[in-house]
Amino acid sequence: MKAKIVANRRFTVADIDPRLYGSFIEHLGRAVYGGVYEPGHDTADDQGFRKDVIDLVRKLGVPIVRYPGGNFVSGYNWEDGTGPREARPRRMELAWGVTETNEVGIDEFQEWARRADSEVMMAVNLGTRGPEEARNCVEYCNSDTDTHFANLRRKNGFDKPFGIKVWCLGNEMDGPWQMGSKTAEEYGRIAAEAAKMMKWTDPSIELVACGSSGLGMPTFVDWERVVLEHTYDHVDYLSLHSYYGNPNNDTPTFLARSLQMDQFIKSVIAVCDTVKAKKRSKKTMMLSFDEWNVWFHSHGAQFEKWGVAQPQLEDIYTFEDALVVGCLLITLQNNCDRVRMACLAQLVNVIAPIMTRTGGGAWAQTIFYPFMLASLHGRGTVLKPIVESERYDTREIKAVPYLETSVIYNEAVGEVTVFAANRSLEEDMELDIELEGFAGAKLIRHTELYSDDLKAVNTEDTETVAPAEVSVGDTVLLKKHSFNMLKYKV
Ligand code: AHR
Repeated sequence: MKAKIVANRRFTVADIDPRLYGSFIEHLGRAVYGGVYEPGHDTADDQGFRKDVIDLVRKLGVPIVRYPGGNFVSGYNWEDGTGPREARPRRMELAWGVTETNEVGIDEFQEWARRADSEVMMAVNLGTRGPEEARNCVEYCNSDTDTHFANLRRKNGFDKPFGIKVWCLGNEMDGPWQMGSKTAEEYGRIAAEAAKMMKWTDPSIELVACGSSGLGMPTFVDWERVVLEHTYDHVDYLSLHSYYGNPNNDTPTFLARSLQMDQFIKSVIAVCDTVKAKKRSKKTMMLSFDEWNVWFHSHGAQFEKWGVAQPQLEDIYTFEDALVVGCLLITLQNNCDRVRMACLAQLVNVIAPIMTRTGGGAWAQTIFYPFMLASLHGRGTVLKPIVESERYDTREIKAVPYLETSVIYNEAVGEVTVFAANRSLEEDMELDIELEGFAGAKLIRHTELYSDDLKAVNTEDTETVAPAEVSVGDTVLLKKHSFNMLKYKV
């Protein structure tokens, strides 16, 4: 099979915001306890953080981490995770049916993020709490004033403000599973008031309002419209969440799910721009795709009710999941003019690229690698190429191009990077790449993520799926069902 890409230096989408490669740590399962934090572990540092996990997070390249939830945040008292550990309450955690010990809170997590070369994207509870607690949290984290919550932070040992820039106004507030879920009217009003007070406390912060918790929600689009009618002038981003799976083992459809992600993004842009027009606003609403991933392997898994650090949502990812994650990343890159931030949900143990054994090792799951390649090399200006590729139909999704691709020009280092996935399950693809306006462009690297076995997984002992370098020649060949990174010196 043959395919062709023609990219011109002057046809651009936008510059990528590095926060497109964010991730997410929720107080859920073994993400925090046994994941990032395990004081008794061989690699634990002076604060009890696992250094093996920090090393993997650094290797992955994660500029921002959403925290502390997720569904968890809608019943959370942020104060529980501050101050002396011995005084912190153990709580019934209703979102996931477990016990939260509060050994880790924002006091610790902001330090963990610093050590992992990341920043925190903080979510506030607009489920069971409201604007008052939200603005207090901003004061605690960011204020330099001689006032109660800033002084409480100092008393807890942090003289310097944490300087958290991005704040999420609740989580999935449209979902009946959410503690304190709301109608769009109710949420829009409370989010607008919280936003005003949080920005009055620290005018430098950026705010994310909750969009629908998925494309399939019956209130999708109306939710966005009503929420934005209330919040448009006060927030900077609207959130999108989406998870994909292959429960029926229909791989051609699974590999095409990124087309649905693209459609979802385009629909949310349409509603944002409708509200913009209605308000005669000069501001363009940006998007934060702050939960996305493959999630289905662990559905129905058992855990001990009210236990601590239960193994919840521990999907073991296959090679085909990595291909899907690669295609989703390409879709996010190609929409980077509006999707400025995104979070792979999640980061450690819970539907995560990084797995640990409590008391044991840490390793990279299959999905670690497309993310790593995209985050480390997908920086710069996204170009808008013309792509010629044969297409296929599935029962659900039509006209799926075999080739999924993005082209990114990094002027600072003089490189063009092409990400290219071949969705064909049978045929290799001969790819012709024309880079216009880049005189003397020379292919210097071809990195390939491939396995013969679509269901191959990585374990603590065996890394079956990992990128390999392919020697570069005159032609570019993408193996059947493979994810590739091609680098040109320009
Ligand atoms: O990431 C797991 C869960 O998925 C989050 O807690 C929630 O926001 C979403 O439904």
